[in-house]
Amino acid sequence: MKYSIILLFVFFVSSAQIKKKQLNLMPWPQNINLTDGTFTLNQKFKVNITGNPNDRLFKGVSKFLRRLDGRTGLFLEQPFVTKTNEYSEAELQINCARPGKVGLNEDESYTLIIETNKINITATTDLGALHGLETLLQLMQNNGRSFYFPAVEVTDSPRFTWRGLMIDAARHFQPVDVIKRNLDAMASMKMNVFHWHLVDDQGWRIEIKKHPKLTELASDGDYYTQEEIKNIVKYADELGIMVVPEIDIPGHASALLSVYPEIGSKKSESMLYSVGRRSGIYDSALDPTNPKTYKLLSEIFDEVCPLFPSDYFHIGGDENNGKEWNANPVIQEFKSKNKIASNHDLQTYFNMKLVPMLKKHNKQLMGWEEILTNDMSKEAIIHAWRGVNEGLSPGGALVKAAKGGYKTVLSNGYYIDLLLSVDGHYLNDPMPKNIVLSKEEKDRILGGEAAMWSELVTPLNIDSRIWPRTAAIAERLWSNDTIIDLNSMHRRLKVISSRLEEVGVMHIRNKEVILRNITNYQDTRALNDFTNICEPLKNYKRNGGGKKYFMYSPLTLFADACTADASDAYDFDKAVNQYLENKSPENQIVVTSFFRKWIAMNNDLIALSANAPLIQPVLPMSNNLSVISKQLLLAIEEKQNVDKKALNELLEQLTIRNSADVELAIYSSLKKLL
Ligand code: ACM
Repeated sequence: MKYSIILLFVFFVSSAQIKKKQLNLMPWPQNINLTDGTFTLNQKFKVNITGNPNDRLFKGVSKFLRRLDGRTGLFLEQPFVTKTNEYSEAELQINCARPGKVGLNEDESYTLIIETNKINITATTDLGALHGLETLLQLMQNNGRSFYFPAVEVTDSPRFTWRGLMIDAARHFQPVDVIKRNLDAMASMKMNVFHWHLVDDQGWRIEIKKHPKLTELASDGDYYTQEEIKNIVKYADELGIMVVPEIDIPGHASALLSVYPEIGSKKSESMLYSVGRRSGIYDSALDPTNPKTYKLLSEIFDEVCPLFPSDYFHIGGDENNGKEWNANPVIQEFKSKNKIASNHDLQTYFNMKLVPMLKKHNKQLMGWEEILTNDMSKEAIIHAWRGVNEGLSPGGALVKAAKGGYKTVLSNGYYIDLLLSVDGHYLNDPMPKNIVLSKEEKDRILGGEAAMWSELVTPLNIDSRIWPRTAAIAERLWSNDTIIDLNSMHRRLKVISSRLEEVGVMHIRNKEVILRNITNYQDTRALNDFTNICEPLKNYKRNGGGKKYFMYSPLTLFADACTADASDAYDFDKAVNQYLENKSPENQIVVTSFFRKWIAMNNDLIALSANAPLIQPVLPMSNNLSVISKQLLLAIEEKQNVDKKALNELLEQLTIRNSADVELAIYSSLKKLL
């Protein structure tokens, strides 16, 4: 009897009218209206495509069906989709007017209408239809017995046309599988530009058939063959993602110059270059006065450009510090003879030589903001990354570019390798507030791009640096600028983060792999608890000065298992705030249960460390936290007087740099309590 009442109750609650704020959509659609009822899934559920889509939609629908089936375990009857009008009676009808072309300013809009017995996705292009399928998957709900969609009407389209992710495959090579799983995750977040940083001081990662030495000598054997590149570009295209390659020049060129020192700017050819093994800015720069430089680059472009159908080609252009140019008398003489006032102008001279080489392949040049000078071609796209501190404020290079007639993309504020909280990225809007821009100027702001530099990432930890924070950036770039509620974002992001596993990214599961290594294959629970209140050092502090980590150093450590936005730290802060507002027994228990957890955690870590040397670096912190927790328990529960000064000193010790390269993410919450 009791059992059936509970069942009834469960059923009643789960099928009650769903509210908008229960939906875990990201990016949030432009318009969404919940209507009455639900559409319940069963084994006979089928999809039919009509209209005139690109073939990528067949693949997309097949993938959709497998994901739906994987989640529901329904053993859906419909196999792979290969053509239009296969099941005219299907419950899900998708109609596309025409094939989409992957690239900028394509129509990516869609309408999704779910009724109790049918679902319609209508889109101008298959690209919009793919987005509609992602929204549909995110709308799925369940009760204890079945899976269903709420009845709903969605009309949706992106706010910005450039919604990108850059992956640096040069510092640490990222194999094909890593790229593909991240492309899948991007597509699920409706992102459409993959910027592939292919070469840097630390490695040349793309096969050049005419110059095989580049990968033979400057990649440590880790590079993409041209066949692999083509395969990835096709894979991305099927997901609606444009791939923009980057060959970073004239700086960041140590790998290239280790093979061809004769086009470097060092005074003597005998002063050899070598592939970079550390982080930071190198002096290495191509010689812009040497005709051989342009011959080689032209040959490289002639091979690289045809691999990428996109209209854009990124030439880097960042952080050329000019030291080698200054030290080279031939280059200095060239400058004065040609009345080139500065190294910056000399770099523009260099950049302008690249424009026709790329134009030959119908490519528009894009570069980091350093390429922005008075004489730079207005066709160049300016990639803003340094923000407001470069003498370009207000608004930095982005505004300067837009006002100066250049199209521009924002990455400042989206540097996910800094390991900062998602909140800042989320609220960072490409469209500057408080700066008046004309309609034309606004139109030049194409969007934004998350930047994943790879000095401290390997295939093992890269996903947890990209996800889930990039999902919040994707929302910023897609959704209306009024969608800025942090609580809502955090609530949805938690669910979205789990769902991202479905497409293959390993941001959650790889943590256990790292923890098993650290604990020496003992129980990982205690260490996992500790990762949930620690965050890797931010803002490049982990490798400040580049003295600790080289490109061959281990990234299998405690800091690699930790992420930005430590989950328990977020929950603990909420609990502390609630407790300080109202010291009710309920609020007290939430806070004190954290202290009990951390005391037990420390005991477990000490026990584990007897057989796990890699745990040693975290013990001073956990010991310290355990002492603080015990004292706070006495103070809160027993109303005992504790030595506040001593406690504060203990807390401050936690801010001193430790060999685990992490910071305690609950520091400010503890401070509040004290
Ligand atoms: C950059 O971060 N050097 C573009």
